[in-house]
Amino acid sequence: MLIKRKRGWELPENAATPEHLFLSRRRFAQAFAAGAIAAGPILLPALAATPASAQDKAADPSAKLYPFKQNMRYRLDRPITGEELATTYNNFYEFGSQKNIHKEAQKLPLRPWTIKVDGMVEKPVEIGIDDLMAKMPLEERLYRHRCVEAWSMAVPWGGFAMSEFVKLCQPLSQAKYVRMETFKDPKVAPGQHQTWYPWPYVEGVTIEEANNELAFMVTGAYGKPAPAQNGAPLRLALPWKYGFKHIKSITRVTFTDKQPKSFWEEIQGREYGFWANVNPKVPHPRWSQATEMPLGSKERVPTLLYNGYGEFVADLYKGMDEKVLFM
Ligand code: MTE
Repeated sequence: MLIKRKRGWELPENAATPEHLFLSRRRFAQAFAAGAIAAGPILLPALAATPASAQDKAADPSAKLYPFKQNMRYRLDRPITGEELATTYNNFYEFGSQKNIHKEAQKLPLRPWTIKVDGMVEKPVEIGIDDLMAKMPLEERLYRHRCVEAWSMAVPWGGFAMSEFVKLCQPLSQAKYVRMETFKDPKVAPGQHQTWYPWPYVEGVTIEEANNELAFMVTGAYGKPAPAQNGAPLRLALPWKYGFKHIKSITRVTFTDKQPKSFWEEIQGREYGFWANVNPKVPHPRWSQATEMPLGSKERVPTLLYNGYGEFVADLYKGMDEKVLFM
C-alpha cells in the first residue's frame, strides 16, 4: 500500500482526498513502524469502465424482487452517475484503502446474511436479510451522495425507509441512538488484518435521525441487488450527511442510550464527528468543502447545505451547537 501524507493545501483542485490519509498520528506511527505503510505517491485510481459486479445474481433470492417502484418525492438536480463508475469507485476499507476494491469485495458471501437486533428493544432478534425484505415496503429513491473527500455521486438506491425498520425493532423509550456494525471476518476482508483500524466499522444516528423520512436502508442499486462493493446486502443512505456515515454490509443494530463512537471518530475524532452533516461553509480541517467533484464530470460544482436536503432535516438540529453539527 502506497500512501503519502499530504496537507490539504497541497491538494490539486480536482483530486479526491482518500480517507486513509487521516489516520491519527499514533495509529499511523504504529502502522509505519510495523512496515504496513510505506511513503510514496498517492496512486489515484483510474475511473475505469470495468464490469460492475461479478456477483452471481442467480444466487441472490432477492434479485426477483427488482426493480422497485420509484418514490417520486425524492428528485435529483443532476444526472444519475453511471453505474460502472458508482460500482468501481468505492470506499470499503475492509477490502483495502484504494478505490478499486470492487473485485476483492466479491469475496464477501452475501447469503446467508443475518442482522442481529439488540440493546434497548422489546425483544432482541436475529433476522435474515430476505425475511427482513419481505416485511419492508420496498421502493427506489434517487439520492445524492457526498463523500467527505469532496467527490459526489447521484445513485438510484433500492431499499426501505429506516423508520419502518425502527418500528419493526420496537425500541424501548429509553433508546436514544441506533448503533450499527459491519461484519468482521479478516478471512474474507483483507483490510481487517490492518489492526491499527478499530474493526468492525461502526456508525450511529439518533433515533430522530433514524426516523427522519430521508434515512434509507439500502439493499439495491440501479434496479437490482446492490453489489458487495456498495455495501450489500444492507447499507445505510443518509443523503444529508457525509458518506462515511453510510455504513455498509450491516450485521448488527443496537438500540442504546449512549452516543455511539463511530469508526472514523475513533481514528481521528478531531476531523470526523458524530453528526457529519454536509455544510459548504465548514471546511474539513485540511481542505475546503465549498465545492465537490461529481464522479464522471470534469468540473466542480458548489456543495449545498445539508447536501441540498435542508427542507427535510434542518429542523432536527434547531438550537444545536453548530461547531459540532458539521464535522
Ligand atoms: N462502510 C464500511 N463498512 N466500510 C467502509 O470503509 N466507507 C464509507 C461508507 N461506508 C465504508 C463504509 C465511506 S468513507 C463512504 S464515502 C461510503 O461508504 C462510500 O460508499 P460507496 O462506495 O457506495 O460510494
